[in-house]
Amino acid sequence: MVFDLDLIKKLYAGLPAKVDSARKLTGTPLTLAEKILYAHLYEPAAKAYTRGKDYVDFAPDRVAMQDATAQMALLQFMTCGRDQVAVPSTVHCDHLIQAKTGAVEDLKNALNVNKEVYDFLSSISNKYGIGFWKAGAGIIHQVVIENYAFPGGMMIGTDSHTPNAGGLGMVAIGVGGADAVDVMAGLAWELKMPKLIGVKLTGKLSGWASAKDVILKVAGILTVKGGTGAIVEYFGEGADSLSATGKGTICNMGAEIGATCSLFAYDEKMADYLRATGRSEVADLANGVREHLRPDEAVYANPEKYYDQLIEIDLNTLEPHVNGPFTPDLAWPISKFAEAVRANNWPERLEVALIGSCTNSSYEDISRSASLAEQAIAKKLKAKAEFTITPGSELVRHTIEKDGFLKTFDQIGGVVLANACGPCIGQWARHIDDPNRKNSIITSFNRNFAKRNDGLASTHAFVASPEIVTAFAIAGDLTFNPLTDTLKNEEGKDVKLDEPTGVELPPKGFSVDDPGYQAPAADGSSVQVIVSPESQRLQLLAPFAAWEGTDLKGLRLLIKAKGKCTTDHISMAGPWLKFRGHLDNISNNMLIGAVNFYNDKTDTVKNELTGEYGPVPATQRAYKAAGIGTVVVGDENYGEGSSREHAAMEPRHLGVRAIIVRSFARIHETNLKKQGMLALTFNDKADYDKIQEDDVIDLNGLTTFAPGSQITMVLTHKDGSKDNVILNHTYNDQQIEWFKAGGALNVIRAQFAK
Ligand code: F3S
Repeated sequence: MVFDLDLIKKLYAGLPAKVDSARKLTGTPLTLAEKILYAHLYEPAAKAYTRGKDYVDFAPDRVAMQDATAQMALLQFMTCGRDQVAVPSTVHCDHLIQAKTGAVEDLKNALNVNKEVYDFLSSISNKYGIGFWKAGAGIIHQVVIENYAFPGGMMIGTDSHTPNAGGLGMVAIGVGGADAVDVMAGLAWELKMPKLIGVKLTGKLSGWASAKDVILKVAGILTVKGGTGAIVEYFGEGADSLSATGKGTICNMGAEIGATCSLFAYDEKMADYLRATGRSEVADLANGVREHLRPDEAVYANPEKYYDQLIEIDLNTLEPHVNGPFTPDLAWPISKFAEAVRANNWPERLEVALIGSCTNSSYEDISRSASLAEQAIAKKLKAKAEFTITPGSELVRHTIEKDGFLKTFDQIGGVVLANACGPCIGQWARHIDDPNRKNSIITSFNRNFAKRNDGLASTHAFVASPEIVTAFAIAGDLTFNPLTDTLKNEEGKDVKLDEPTGVELPPKGFSVDDPGYQAPAADGSSVQVIVSPESQRLQLLAPFAAWEGTDLKGLRLLIKAKGKCTTDHISMAGPWLKFRGHLDNISNNMLIGAVNFYNDKTDTVKNELTGEYGPVPATQRAYKAAGIGTVVVGDENYGEGSSREHAAMEPRHLGVRAIIVRSFARIHETNLKKQGMLALTFNDKADYDKIQEDDVIDLNGLTTFAPGSQITMVLTHKDGSKDNVILNHTYNDQQIEWFKAGGALNVIRAQFAK
């Protein structure tokens, strides 16, 4: 058993009282999302929280991390002084495996190429009580739903499709690595109380329509931004009729509408899935608190009163959809798709069809797709497009192999890839004769932005259900409508595919030889974390230095950034991804995308020590070597974009002392505070203009730093004249403590040292 039954027992034991007290506080019947959120408050609530407005501290039950984001999260966690993680946590090696020839060979290569990263993640997991899922074990979200997700739980995961666990009734939210560090270290996790979007599902799916089509349709209605800041809660008899994994698919792709997460209420389908995956005890326990794992009856009766927005979808009439290209919210019912392909001049010939991934590789998905492949064999058809199958986990792969589905796919030309992200995240060495040729692919994945799958701007990527993708693989033509059209078989006869059929759960049960799980050591104190001092990809972190206790004098301006400065401008992705576990190496991308106010160039700033212009990171390293602190000045909404902690850690590592801007993106501001950095804003935004390139800068008022206090920046210009600029901050007492200690993790370390 890899899941923590005691944790679930404890949560369920306290659930009735917590739900009751939340109902009293709000004075209204409760949706399921509210029940779960109020049951996971870090401190008991004194008042009802306003949706879309109040920031709330939560205590999630679990943390899951994928291998790309886990590296820096765990390197930071190591410095906080804890012997063990504060909540059950897992690491999943899925993002670093490149798809090239097929599962066996690709996995072998990945184990070789990524050895030092895997050794590090394995050893650090072993030491700190973290469950470790090896490369090849499966994709984070599939492994989580098979092993850890449970109704009424709350988890965070360092991947945007973490909401997949909503298929088992869990509030599961994708976050950055810094948030994972907080929760593993035992700190509160802050989130703005989400708004709630209700989606009422009536009727029942039939024929070609599948759960994927529900979310493809919702994406078309709400668009890629429509779910921002909201939890999407599905309910109604249609919701209860969907398999747990179908629910998971819908929740997974809620990320494509920007939703905080998506959620289904506990029902028989979830109980069935829990039992099929070896968790009967969890189903029994959930049955005991069933009413608290579903919205109150009054919410069902009057949903428009309790959700901020309400959508209704009739599953009886839902058509299969194909969404794309280039965005997942461009939704086409299959009956309109061929016309759209022709009208927009999208390449009609389908080159590659890819099924599986964390979104759609359940037993139900695979059995329905295999039913089409079986028909193709019987009707003397072969896949005309390249066809790949990515199982979401070894449990799924082993079971579908045993039940003969993989052999069926092989017979129509399908290639099984490793149980990993592969082509979904651009880890795909695609074989294409001309990378500039406009071409079409279709996947059962979730995202289809330009270049996402194969790095090619010429690729038109569409998203559909695995059964529609399989039908297209057989047809090799995007203007084919499997519901109405016929295909020519090897004998020249016109044949038609019948509706797919499948089963939700394996009739002979799931089975696996080696799931690929490594349990942590019971006592990890003697375990050594493996990081080679010569490594270019990994570097152990030293704690940042505490504040020296004085005002800061004689600082220089590193860069006055002009206009938009997102976390991508501050810490670029792309080729830098491989250094995510090496702070010093990745710091060579610090602010290289920011535009210098004084010359309108990127990565070219003046080094006041030499008078020469040079790259930002090298200039900052020169100041650091000379023992001179610097400030970075920015414009509005500085640090918008992802929650990437590297954007805060890099300046801290290289010796920048303060980031002074017109306004901050909130998450980046918090990340800076956590790293012990000064994050300050102009009291008068026009003072941005007073800063000159050659200024010497003092920051006064730090010795009296307190909530609501102000800092005075004294600018001594080159001609000797001076300007005093008033700066504001939003630090509370605890955050000031972080600043003084040199970072939030230093505060925790001090607590554990006592
Ligand atoms: Fe991996 Fe793609 Fe899912 S990157 S986690 S398979 S969304």
